[in-house]
Amino acid sequence: MIDSLGRNITYLRLSVTELCNLRCRYCMPEEGVCKLAHSQLLTEEEMVRAVRAASRLGITKVRITGGEPLVKPNILSICRNVANVPGISETSVTTNAILLPDMAAPLREAGVQRVNISLDTLNPEKYRKITRRGELSDALKGLSAALDAGFEKVKINAVLIGGFNDDEIPALAALTQKWLVDMRFIELMPMAGNTDFGSECYIPVTRVLDALPQALPEQEEGVARLYRLPGALGRVGLISPLSQHFCAACNRIRLTADGKIKPCLHSAEEISIKGLSEQDMMEQMRRAILSKPACHAELNVISRSPSGRSMNQIGG
Ligand code: GTP
Ligand code: 5AD
Ligand code: SF4
Repeated sequence: MIDSLGRNITYLRLSVTELCNLRCRYCMPEEGVCKLAHSQLLTEEEMVRAVRAASRLGITKVRITGGEPLVKPNILSICRNVANVPGISETSVTTNAILLPDMAAPLREAGVQRVNISLDTLNPEKYRKITRRGELSDALKGLSAALDAGFEKVKINAVLIGGFNDDEIPALAALTQKWLVDMRFIELMPMAGNTDFGSECYIPVTRVLDALPQALPEQEEGVARLYRLPGALGRVGLISPLSQHFCAACNRIRLTADGKIKPCLHSAEEISIKGLSEQDMMEQMRRAILSKPACHAELNVISRSPSGRSMNQIGG
């Protein structure tokens, strides 16, 4: 469906849970989140109904997110049912990879075509620090399982944080020389809850190019500007929600685990579709698409995202 500014909305980000087995400092509070009552969460049937409604409005691509989607007990069934909705040509998952060693092959069999993996550092101590509890070796085993499972594409996301992992840009980018992966660096977004990052942590992704003078530009894809290191199998991507936002080309809406359509990641506007019929869900989604803002407000260490949710409650 075309929105009021001429953007073609074809992409739904479906968050299936707010829960996570990690506690990344930029995403979630240490104590986790208050578990929502079952009655507040979308049921699997409602999620699939919502995807059917979205498909009728022209959505062709669904990315399943969280929290961490793989902690959801019925995740395989959700993926299979979403992938089978007529009109959905691409089903993908964003995960921290911790559970992928056992889940990669079943996800592929369930019809998931692509996975994006969050990995901010290659240093085990720093991994423990940023995730507050994760083991780097588990994430790397998950990445390896994803590469073996035959997904059409594996992308890695690193949130670029000044003073934390900007010294690892060459090492992370070098993964594209070893494996057929896209390595994407994302600017840290100031969400409502993640206030323990000082201004020095917010650095533009152009720093990646400063650290990789040999990188050559390639075509843009989705939210990322892409580059390639000489001879590399995969590409290096820059995602710049702060320094150069991509709102004019935004093609997405979001559905949270508690059944709210978010027309924009960085807006407080939410439209509930919990409990509605497919037809009514479709009408509410149409309303949400028509109310998509032109652009999100300026974000910086002082002007935080007006979204009012932490990232695990939206799904990125
Ligand atoms: P594909 O293009 O399908 O590979 O996925 P993606 O890049 O849209 O999804 P992914 O879950 O890997 O998200 C990458 C990063 O982009 C995350 O940090 C998201 O929060 C961020 N992102 C995704 N969509 C938007 C958006 O609409 N606005 C902003 N500001 N950031 C976004
Ligand atoms: N800023 C930028 N990216 C973030 N992510 C989670 N929180 C933030 C934030 N505050 C990223 C995760 C994951 C993706 C879906 O969103 O690293 O890869
Ligand atoms: Fe969990 Fe992903 Fe948030 Fe980290 S960024 S706490 S892995 S949902």
